[in-house]
Amino acid sequence: MKILITGVSGQVGHALQQQLGHSYQLTTPGRTDLDLSRPDQIRDYVFATRPDLIINPAAYTAVDKAESEPEIAHAVNALAPAALAATARELGIGLIHYSTDYVFDGSLRNAEGGLQAYQENHATNPLNVYGRTKLAGEQAIITSGCQYLIFRTSWVYSRFGKNFLLTMLRLANERDELRVVNDQWGAPTSSQTISDATTAIVDQLALASNPQVWWQQHQGIYHLTTTGHTSWHGFTGEILHQAALHGLLSKTAPVLHGIPATEYPTPAIRPVNSCLDTTNIRQRFGITLPNWQHALATCLS
Ligand SMILES: NC(=O)c1ccc[n+]([C@@H]2O[C@H](COP(=O)([O-])OP(=O)(O)OC[C@H]3O[C@@H](n4cnc5c(N)ncnc54)[C@H](OP(=O)(O)O)[C@@H]3O)[C@@H](O)[C@H]2O)c1
Repeated sequence: MKILITGVSGQVGHALQQQLGHSYQLTTPGRTDLDLSRPDQIRDYVFATRPDLIINPAAYTAVDKAESEPEIAHAVNALAPAALAATARELGIGLIHYSTDYVFDGSLRNAEGGLQAYQENHATNPLNVYGRTKLAGEQAIITSGCQYLIFRTSWVYSRFGKNFLLTMLRLANERDELRVVNDQWGAPTSSQTISDATTAIVDQLALASNPQVWWQQHQGIYHLTTTGHTSWHGFTGEILHQAALHGLLSKTAPVLHGIPATEYPTPAIRPVNSCLDTTNIRQRFGITLPNWQHALATCLS
């Protein structure tokens, strides 16, 4: 199977390239080969490379900057997936795409007023430009008529790139105190967890006796994160704890304080509750997902 993967310089794209490259023939266009802010180029590029499957982890992911660059964010996160989906439909191939917890407004609560994880069919209501453009991308794929899988994930980190884990490790080695938001909740998810699950699912597709039937049976939106949940403050506490165990701190760990999000204002509003229910992806594809502490330990080791 020949797979086109976008965004391989990013966290998820890089992990996918490393893992899927062992078993599949990959085409991995960078921004200079295929600029996704120019969706008009997409059809010709895909037709020239003739993949059997498209995987699209590329995205405009600068959540705060998107507030002042809505047109570019919309082009990359909505128009490009729309063009990829239209091309996939024309070629009769499938599209695997990634989306975000930020399509929700984070207000979901259970009957007791506690946190409830979002299921795939809960109502969306993005609070920021990034979330709105990602939701528009989902909707464009669904209405295109192509065969698709959309994996919504959350709080992505990896051992390289720009992410919360690496920021906290840097700050832990620079500062004596850290103040981190303790009233936003979600599942920190390593790019490796996303790549492991995606690879297991691509392997199932590759082994399917009738790929068209496989797509009919599996197509849809799925939530793909680690299991369990924490706050940014809780995540930081675990990072400091595990980093000390792995000898990654050059000094005594800083004192960690929890603060409300109101004390850390950002251009983009974030949802309070980013927890996603992963039951469907685990049951439908028979895969297991690690809890967030275990995935962090794997990444740090
Ligand atoms: N990061 C998170 O916390 C998070 C949370 C929830 C969902 N997600 C979703 O998960 C997926 C993967 O995210 P990630 O964290 O791996 O993203 P990332 O590390 O920010 O990587 C984004 C990738 O997209 C590429 N890209 C951006 N604009 C492009 C353009 N105009 N043309 C071509 N390529 C372009 C980047 O290329 P350059 O290197 O050239 O910029 C990079 O390879 C995305 O769909 C994202 O929305 C992420």
